[in-house]
Amino acid sequence: MIGVFDSGFGGLSVLAAIARHLPRADLLYFADTAHVPYGDKPEGFITGRVLAIGEHLAAQGCSPIVVACNTATTTAIQALRHHLPGIPIVGVEPGVKPAAQSTHTKHIAVLATEATARSRRLAQLIASHAADVRVDVVPCPGWATHVETLRPFTGEFRAEVAEKIAPLIADGVDRIVLGCTHYAFLTPIIEPVIAGCAELVDVADAVARQVVRLGGQIQGRAELHLQATAKPQRLQFALPMLGLTTLAERSVPAQLVSL
Ligand code: DGL
Repeated sequence: MIGVFDSGFGGLSVLAAIARHLPRADLLYFADTAHVPYGDKPEGFITGRVLAIGEHLAAQGCSPIVVACNTATTTAIQALRHHLPGIPIVGVEPGVKPAAQSTHTKHIAVLATEATARSRRLAQLIASHAADVRVDVVPCPGWATHVETLRPFTGEFRAEVAEKIAPLIADGVDRIVLGCTHYAFLTPIIEPVIAGCAELVDVADAVARQVVRLGGQIQGRAELHLQATAKPQRLQFALPMLGLTTLAERSVPAQLVSL
């Protein structure tokens, strides 16, 4: 069984890509909804959650484990690999490399949580893959929480998103990296702001291909197990609300897990 986790619903964008590549695999999605968002939490707290969840997924036989969260990956993937040396761990990091390789204007932006924006790992990614490119790192506090509400986007929130992104476009940015898995669900309100000027860069598909490389054509009963640390029924409800109807059809009733 492939274990996939995030602070909340954001990692479902990665889960959907994995399910497209491996339609027969059994999947376990774990949302740490009692502690979402991670983006405004200190490093030590995030690392503690990642180790506890990783251990829990490993105890249920998950391999590989996918950290479907940029914040958790940039903060704690090294610690998790050290903690679970026998299990392949796949992380999700902002797509700085593909953005830097494809930009024509040599100017890209990374939208991320506050924790990812200040992480050493993001600074290293930029230094290694985007040394000759201007990179604007833009923290977007509150955006992941907005996705968690599952409410329709208000005019006020749409305006906030446009106010953050329009100046980047005016400044010549032509690649916008979605550096938080929650932001994939904001695509419908970001795209009109960047249309014709910039492209979004999301690594969910690349992560799914990496899972296939590690695990091969994993076969199973195509079940999707859902677990959450608070209000597990919301996780089940989120699937159709976020347009993930194929995943909704294969899910079994969600469970509450206290960790
Ligand atoms: N979805 C997560 C990420 O990719 C975390 C968002 C949050 O919990 O703040 O960064």
